[in-house]
Amino acid sequence: MSTPIPAPPGIPLLGNVLDIDPSNANQSLSHLADKYGPIFKLNLFGGDRYIVSSVELLNEICDEKRFAKMVSGPLEQVRNGVGSGLFTAYHGEHDWEVAHRTLVPAFGPLGIHDMYDEMYDVATQLVAKWARAGPEQKIAVTDDFTRLTLDSIALCVMDKRFNSFYSEKMHPFVDAMVGFLIESGRRAARTRIGALFNRSVERQYHEDIALMRNVAQEMVDYRRANPTDKKDLLNAMLFGKDPKTGEKMSDESIINNIITFLIAGHETTSGLLSFVFYHLCKNPEALRTAQEEVDSVVGKGPVTVQQVTKLPYIEAVMREALRLYPTAPGFSVTALPTVPGPVVLAGKYTIPHGAPIAVILSKAGRDPVVFGADADEFKPDRMYGENFTKLPPNAWKPFGNGARGCIGRPFAWQEAILAIALILQNFNVRMDDPSYQLQVRQTLTVKPDNFFIRATLREGIN
Ligand code: HEM
Repeated sequence: MSTPIPAPPGIPLLGNVLDIDPSNANQSLSHLADKYGPIFKLNLFGGDRYIVSSVELLNEICDEKRFAKMVSGPLEQVRNGVGSGLFTAYHGEHDWEVAHRTLVPAFGPLGIHDMYDEMYDVATQLVAKWARAGPEQKIAVTDDFTRLTLDSIALCVMDKRFNSFYSEKMHPFVDAMVGFLIESGRRAARTRIGALFNRSVERQYHEDIALMRNVAQEMVDYRRANPTDKKDLLNAMLFGKDPKTGEKMSDESIINNIITFLIAGHETTSGLLSFVFYHLCKNPEALRTAQEEVDSVVGKGPVTVQQVTKLPYIEAVMREALRLYPTAPGFSVTALPTVPGPVVLAGKYTIPHGAPIAVILSKAGRDPVVFGADADEFKPDRMYGENFTKLPPNAWKPFGNGARGCIGRPFAWQEAILAIALILQNFNVRMDDPSYQLQVRQTLTVKPDNFFIRATLREGIN
């Protein structure tokens, strides 16, 4: 016997469109999950999508023998700017196969290790800026982390300096990217007729795409005119070959992937760092423990690449922040064409073959069955050592799943630990407004909004 899947009522023609706030779809979905439970169905533009939010169901859809990534909704709109780049490629798309096999080695442990000095270079620019600002100035944390992560990815993987710390305004790429992502999300939630009434928005959307593609093209042109033997990602894209077929990435695919890396490689990590500092400022005990760990492992000298792997409490803090606020808030799968018949989840929910199934990661991360009655609370200990390794399979998935999981995870991890360690080594941090209540802003990724801290240089640190 199949159990009926709950569905919010919706309205004729538009279905559940009005149930989703286009500027914060993740929050709307979470509210619906609170009301309708671990699986529910939404009708959006004539198609049904299924939304899951328990670890049990998440674990099931992570089975790559039955399911594969589905590119639909906002992600499909992102293809308007980055086509078949790694993040937005359809399952089995040829460009993905070639790019994935060509680029995976560059993101392996050796590749990431080689990027450390450049990561360090950018991270110290943030430290210098905060030191200059002094304790009286409030720091727009998320903006500075965006500077850090954008500059890091551009420098480490493309040898391009955006120099975001040397200007008040962000690099124009950031404005274009934010505009492009917000509008991609809105387009997914808007009727086609609605789009006709938005000509200036449409024009801006295409201008944003053109700007991003021009920035990427300039990087390619510059590198072709000034070759180096640096083992970075740009060289891997330009000169590398698919180890299986010997094919090179097409020029189109290279541009798609440069923009993909610039987008995917900084928004999410910047959000992670912002949530980490939000939680540390709210939890003095965790802040003290993290700072003591840095003091005992690193002391006063430079943070070395070896020390970055020896800060388990800081890693637990990062995992816990991502459990509560996964900065890439979800992903979607569908049944593989080779799997016959309708999909049955948890032995009782029947879903038509080919329908998208999306997971709300922040809800799965707070599943009380796995994380207990205090699942909403920030408690890094539950992500420390064995507590983390003994979690049920697929209970913590902020980096996605399997072959389509995050290629940049080791990069993000090293970059974030280094930044946290350097900040805690050099500053005492506190919330600018102790009564600040977390507000979350969503583009495609989520970040704290209007969040400011103050940073005071610690005694005796140079
Ligand atoms: C894929 C999260 C950092 C590049 C993904 C996916 C998630 C994710 C959830 C899977 C999306 C899906 O299934 O639709 C994160 C988080 C990060 C982070 C939470 C930081 C905290 C990075 C960095 C880079 C990067 C630093 C680049 C250096 C990518 C790419 C993909 C991806 C290219 C697509 C992989 C593929 O399908 O082949 N990421 N990411 N990410 N990520 Fe990340």
